[in-house]
Amino acid sequence: MKHEILKISQITDKQSVIYIIGDDKIPEQLKLGKAEKEFAKKQLKAKEEFVFINSYNKCIYLVRLKDGKDHYQIREELRKYAYNLRKLIKENNHSELVITSSGAYKGAIEDFAEGLILSFYSFEKYKTEPDKNGTNNYPSKLLLKGDISDSDINWLINVTDAVYFTRDLINEPVNHLNATGLANEIKKIGDSAGFKVEVLTKGKIEALKMGGLLAVNKGSVDPPVFCILDWHPDNCLNKSPFVLVGKGIVYDTGGLNIKTGDFMTGMKGDMAGAAIITGVLHIAAKSGIPLHIIGLVPSTDNRPGGNAYTQGDIITMYNKMSVEVGNTDAEGRLILADAISYASKYTPELIIDIATLTGSAANTFGNQAIAMMTNADRKYISLLEESGRDVYERLAELPLWEEYGELLTSDVADIKNIGGRVAGAIIAGKFLEKFAGFPLVHLDIAGTEMLRKDDFYRLKNGPGSGLRMLSAFLRKVAADKTILK
Ligand code: BES
Ligand code: ZN
Ligand code: ZN
Repeated sequence: MKHEILKISQITDKQSVIYIIGDDKIPEQLKLGKAEKEFAKKQLKAKEEFVFINSYNKCIYLVRLKDGKDHYQIREELRKYAYNLRKLIKENNHSELVITSSGAYKGAIEDFAEGLILSFYSFEKYKTEPDKNGTNNYPSKLLLKGDISDSDINWLINVTDAVYFTRDLINEPVNHLNATGLANEIKKIGDSAGFKVEVLTKGKIEALKMGGLLAVNKGSVDPPVFCILDWHPDNCLNKSPFVLVGKGIVYDTGGLNIKTGDFMTGMKGDMAGAAIITGVLHIAAKSGIPLHIIGLVPSTDNRPGGNAYTQGDIITMYNKMSVEVGNTDAEGRLILADAISYASKYTPELIIDIATLTGSAANTFGNQAIAMMTNADRKYISLLEESGRDVYERLAELPLWEEYGELLTSDVADIKNIGGRVAGAIIAGKFLEKFAGFPLVHLDIAGTEMLRKDDFYRLKNGPGSGLRMLSAFLRKVAADKTILK
């Protein structure tokens, strides 16, 4: 566990406190000197985002909720305030810090704490000296005072821990984390959280004839892996599991259709989908979500090499369909397709894949939304969208109309792995849909997952987008008595 987060029932005189307040009133419990009170009143009147009072032996931070927005946006503003305050909080070097609220909505304390913890993430492992500007040395114990249940605290701990290790995995470069390395990490996480992990190595993948994964792997000097993560609690409410599939390309050079210019930057993060579903399984197991959930991770790097697959190759996929390779850089859909058809053996309730799949999704929505394409029951879609708003990892839907599928026509094989110049994200979705024997939700996180500058508490690089949304979704499914028949 990275963070110490505890619930308290009493605030002492010496403890520094963050007060989240819902209006311009100074909380009664807060004892301030006369001058301090005047100052706070003036600042609040001036609509300052926060008021900082540096008393003799403690600090007080007043954080005022935003008015006049939708509830989910007010929640997000609060997480962003936490990011904005992170430097000041760090400068004050508190050995412990209380977060409490007065006149705020239920859950405000957890939202602020979440924003704060996620803002303090940094990847400093390979620095020989600690980074002066880094924040990984966040010193404080967080003490939460308010109407918070133990299970809410646990959820907060599990979610923030999962985001941290997910970001760590994404940030590891391929020279330190190849496909086998990723499998080992997933195994470790499974052992500590309490879900099962089976790792299929190259021989088994060959025996299963996963032609997509094997084709992408041909240019690599490292073998591929296929990981099966399984959280199957005794008290699970569903007979048919939810299957999550994560793209595990540990590095995407594009292969022989090599990425030019700046396009290779960040491609160590092309396994974000894999890291994210590992995070989701961790949260499910640690929080005891009563659902049977399976994770599938096909993994390899994509590089040119002596025997690399080429444009024009015709490959036979796990489900026996033939695919003409129109572009070796459209590798994600090939490895995902094998995993999605493999999912059929579980007769899943729902398949959800998550992948940094297309530049087109990033061009369409920028970093504001995860592109969703689906043929699943709308009851699940509504719940996914609601979860996306709750944690502010919003989903925006693109259609999977039949006509788009026609663009995948090949002269020589059943289909091709690329369409034309248009509708790139949708065409990738159509490609995957052809391999899904069960309802599919396809999530393209290319836009939200490779950030070049800080997006508040999401920070830059790979924030792990979709992790909090998917965990919230599964938690809701388990809590909703009507959704599973
Ligand atoms: N991993 C990339 C997609 C990507 C691009 C993710 C930018 C994040 C940021 C994917 O494998 C890819 O290369 N897609 C190609 C597909 C094309 C060749 C049909 C793309 O989007 O350009
Ligand atoms: Zn690619
Ligand atoms: Zn890729």
